[in-house]
Amino acid sequence: MKHETVLKEEAIQYLNIKENGIYVDGTLGGAGHSKLILEHLKDGFLYAFDQDDFAISFAKDVLKGFKNYKIIKSNFRFLKEKLKEEGIEKIDGLLLDLGLSSFQIDDETRGFTYLKDTSLDMRMDQDQSVTAETILNTYSMEELARIFFVYGEERNSFKIARRIVEKRPLKTTMELVKICDSVNYNEKGHSSKRVFQALRIAVNEELTVLEEVLADAVDLLNPDGRLVVITFHSLEDRIVKHFFKDESTSNLPKNLPVIELPDTKMELITRKPVYPTDEEYERNPRSKSAKLRAARKK
Ligand SMILES: C[S@@+](CC[C@H](N)C(=O)[O-])C[C@H]1O[C@@H](n2cnc3c(N)ncnc32)[C@H](O)[C@@H]1O
Repeated sequence: MKHETVLKEEAIQYLNIKENGIYVDGTLGGAGHSKLILEHLKDGFLYAFDQDDFAISFAKDVLKGFKNYKIIKSNFRFLKEKLKEEGIEKIDGLLLDLGLSSFQIDDETRGFTYLKDTSLDMRMDQDQSVTAETILNTYSMEELARIFFVYGEERNSFKIARRIVEKRPLKTTMELVKICDSVNYNEKGHSSKRVFQALRIAVNEELTVLEEVLADAVDLLNPDGRLVVITFHSLEDRIVKHFFKDESTSNLPKNLPVIELPDTKMELITRKPVYPTDEEYERNPRSKSAKLRAARKK
């Protein structure tokens, strides 16, 4: 099974790892970042979160040989509570490498890809009850259209939602693809790309959990602690960008002659997003849409 870690060295550089610090990888996945974090630690400790059973069993194998880490099977929206259960109130760095790993996308049984005919699942956490099938077959037409428009920026969201409601119950990814084909027949790219992205975000509540974990991270970080986030689409990046801006912009009037701005909790380290190098783009086309942003707790 192949999974290439995106912006690997860059993420570690921005985490600025202290060898005895406490670090959290919120998105363990194939453990590429976690392994590198552990290689930089001496007496420190790593807590690694993932909500996907397959990622966890894969990562355990990658990390065998290391001792100073613990894998926690949980959504990172529960980071604060889960760390508290471990007796941890403060951390020195949090890394979030959002979205899916290649092996989730490539796994034909998970329903993430519109290129394979499979069940309409799309859950990252297999214990969760809501699937893409639940949403498609039970949400109102208006709610479906909203999901496609807001999370997928799909222009034909209403038409697609109406056809879905007419054709219910939907069981397979190809039934959904056929509906998208019939509406987006003029499309240059794949007719279903935006609808699949939107559904995946809705099934896993990806934007809500991101907002929650960012808010908790500010409280959890020690002074000089780092928050490093890698995003893969504009909706996620917008949330991170605005969050960083809000947390690092002073509320003081701009024309006051202050040198230190005391009332913000974070300091931006990346004024502009960091992109993969051309060499990484070439080696791993999936890194194409990746953007890294980092901030430091004051
Ligand atoms: C892009 S991969 C991470 C790859 C990893 N950094 C590496 O080096 O291999 C994202 C992983 O995060 C997990 N994930 C995404 N959102 C999550 C969430 N809200 N809570 C827990 N895990 C999540 C996914 O299941 C997936 O395994």
